[in-house]
Amino acid sequence: MPETWASSGVDLHLDRTGPRVRADLEGQLREAVRSGRLVPGLRLPSSRSLAADLGVARNTVVDVYGQLVAEGWLVARQGSVTRVATRVPAAEAVPAPAGAPRRLRYDLRPGSPDVAAFPRSRWLAAARRALGTAPAEAFGEAPDARGRPELHEALAGYLARARGVRVSPDRIVVCSGFTQGLGLICRALRGRGATTLAVEAYGLPHLRGIAAEHGLRTRALPVDEGGAVLDGTGAAAMLDAAAGLDAAAGLDTAGGLDGADAALLTPAHQFPLGGVLGPERRSRAIDWAARTGGLLIEDDYDGEFRYDRQPVGAMQALAPENVIYAGTASKSLAPGLRLGWLVVPAHLVDEVAAAKAGADRHSSSFDQLTLAEFLTSGAYDRQVRRSRLAYRHRRDHLVAAVRRHAPQARVTGIAAGLHALLELPAGLDEDEIIARAAEHHDLALNGLRSYSPAAGADRPALVIGYATPPEHAFTGAVARLMAVLTQALRNPG
Ligand SMILES: Cc1ncc(COP(=O)(O)O)c(C=O)c1O
Repeated sequence: MPETWASSGVDLHLDRTGPRVRADLEGQLREAVRSGRLVPGLRLPSSRSLAADLGVARNTVVDVYGQLVAEGWLVARQGSVTRVATRVPAAEAVPAPAGAPRRLRYDLRPGSPDVAAFPRSRWLAAARRALGTAPAEAFGEAPDARGRPELHEALAGYLARARGVRVSPDRIVVCSGFTQGLGLICRALRGRGATTLAVEAYGLPHLRGIAAEHGLRTRALPVDEGGAVLDGTGAAAMLDAAAGLDAAAGLDTAGGLDGADAALLTPAHQFPLGGVLGPERRSRAIDWAARTGGLLIEDDYDGEFRYDRQPVGAMQALAPENVIYAGTASKSLAPGLRLGWLVVPAHLVDEVAAAKAGADRHSSSFDQLTLAEFLTSGAYDRQVRRSRLAYRHRRDHLVAAVRRHAPQARVTGIAAGLHALLELPAGLDEDEIIARAAEHHDLALNGLRSYSPAAGADRPALVIGYATPPEHAFTGAVARLMAVLTQALRNPG
């Protein structure tokens, strides 16, 4: 008659099926880890308490834990607790559900900082300080959809100092990352009767999708090494390609900024091509906005990260009443925080705040207070400095590896941000390289074409997110990338 073993410490229900106590316990624990019932990192009861719960000798449990540690299912440190291993033995790993994409071990796709380097203890300390001193009203529903005054103050100081933004606290709307921020702006613009948003022909597809969801048509601005081309000329080849894109994607390319109500730009570091919008194009954009009443949206997603010189200041400073400045914690800290901020011209701030209230009332006060404390304590600056140094080394390493192992390819774009464009020699096929990397090298890559169908097959390139892997996996990831490239160059078919 089977009998259930249960431990009081954790959910550890085990069937006692026969006299082979040690073998049964070992088999069932192994199976519970393998199947995912005991999740990675879970703390197991001490051998003493499990033995007492199960009514078996303590040595039996000690032996079983020892065996499973030796096999890699559990981990134990001297004198410390026993936990489920974070990486279970590969041959027995839980199979992915059918249809789910295989998770690759190495990842050089752009979009993420090194999330393993998130400053957990400093963030926790800031949270403790912030929540310990917050007034009771901070735990209620906030009266102001724009966000907490503590964060407005802290951000205003930081943005003026670090990015040259012209800002007063009452112009800031805190949002759930730029993804939400853009939606709020589109909603406010649509409410004013706007119909058309100009976007860079290369960019994040989901941002373009947000404009469409809010009923705005998008018009593509060609992009070259100097960022967006604003005067409706652009390189002929690019315009032709973009016209092809627009037929497919419902975009309209004619006329540059003329006729658009607003334009979304990445002036400090074009995503993904990597150029910086120079002074002449910045003034052209500002002239257009001043002349037509159009609005510029400055997506400053990675503006703190420049490696070869001081970062170029925000374009917003040239015309604070014509530009919405948008920043995010998604690159400087972690995308999982879902914290971003908009600095909005006076004439639009109430409408954007109303859109925020309609979307989700306001962002989490707890996270806002923590970020405010993180900023004012100097921890944010320190984190940015640390990350800047680390990513700069990573970029240098990537550039050197490409020069050495795949000199036919070229890293382009300014030395900035968390990604670089890797232009491949004509004749190589992006999709083929991405597939080979996944299949033979356990490496995830993104191609340029995923950011714009305007990128023709004659311009193969990869967008390398060198910040994405954890530190210990970075050189391995680059080595795998080099192996993929050298093989492809040797054997292009
Ligand atoms: C070009 C660009 N803009 C904005 C963002 C930030 O988006 P969010 O703040 O919603 O995470 C990203 C992040 O990947 C980005 O690549």
